[in-house]
Amino acid sequence: MPQTTQHSLTHVLLLWITILSIVQVVFITLFFTTGHHSRALSSSTVTPAMQLQANITPSAPSELMGKVEMLTFKATEDNRKITWATKNQDQILVSVEPGETVLKINKDGYFLLNLQVTLSKCNRTMGSLYTVSLNSKDTVILQGRINTNNCSTGLLGKVEELNANDSLEVTIIRPNEDDIIDENEYLTHLDIVFFPRN
Ligand SMILES: *[C@@H]1O[C@H](CO)[C@@H](O)[C@H](O)[C@H]1NC(C)=O
Ligand SMILES: *[C@@H]1O[C@H](CO)[C@@H](O)[C@H](O)[C@H]1NC(C)=O
Ligand SMILES: *[C@@H]1O[C@H](CO)[C@@H](O)[C@H](O)[C@H]1NC(C)=O
Repeated sequence: MPQTTQHSLTHVLLLWITILSIVQVVFITLFFTTGHHSRALSSSTVTPAMQLQANITPSAPSELMGKVEMLTFKATEDNRKITWATKNQDQILVSVEPGETVLKINKDGYFLLNLQVTLSKCNRTMGSLYTVSLNSKDTVILQGRINTNNCSTGLLGKVEELNANDSLEVTIIRPNEDDIIDENEYLTHLDIVFFPRN
C-alpha cells in the first residue's frame, strides 16, 4: 500500500512539473513575441514625423501604419517623352494614364517624394546645362543638376503637402537630346511615401 501511495505521489509531482514547464514556455514565448513586435515597430519608424506621431499617440502606430502607402515608379523614355509606371496595381493614390508623362494625385496628404534620374550618357564639358525638375503644374517641387561624373542627379528628396487633383511631372533639360535616361529602376526612379492628413 505505501508503495502505491508513493507511486501516485510521484505521478502527481511529475504532472505538476509538466504543467509548470508548459506554463513557463508559454510565458517565455509570449514575452519574446510581444517584445519583438514593439521593438520592430519603433525601429521601422524611420522618419522623424512618424516617430513624433508615435510618441503623441502611443496606441496609434498600427493604425497609422495601415494608412501609410508606398509606391515606386520606373521611367521609360520614348521619343523624348518620359513616362512612369508602377508595379503596384491599384491606382487609388496616384494614377497615370499609359503613355502619359503626368502623374495624378488622388488623395489629400503629405507626400515624401524621392527622385533619382540618371542618363545613359552625358557631356562633361556641358555639365551646367543639365537640369532635372519635379513639378506640380507651375510649381517646382524638386530641382537638381546632373553630376557629369556619373550622369546622375543622385537622390533628391522632399516632403510636400499635395491635394487630390494635383499633378506631378518630371522634366529634364539637357543640351543633347540623345542623352536619354538610363531606364534601370535602381538608377532612375520616383518613389512616393504617402502620409494621410488628419
Ligand atoms: C561635348 O560638348 C562639347 C562642346 O559643345 C563638344 O565640343 C564635344 O564634342 C562634346 N563631347 C561629346 C562626347 O559629345
Ligand atoms: C553620382 O555622384 C553623386 C555625387 O558624388 C552621388 O551623390 C550619386 O549617388 C552618384 N550616383 C550614382 C548613380 O552613382
Ligand atoms: C478633380 O477634377 C475633376 C475634373 O476636373 C473634378 O470633377 C473633381 O471634382 C476634382 N476633384 C477634387 C477633389 O477637386
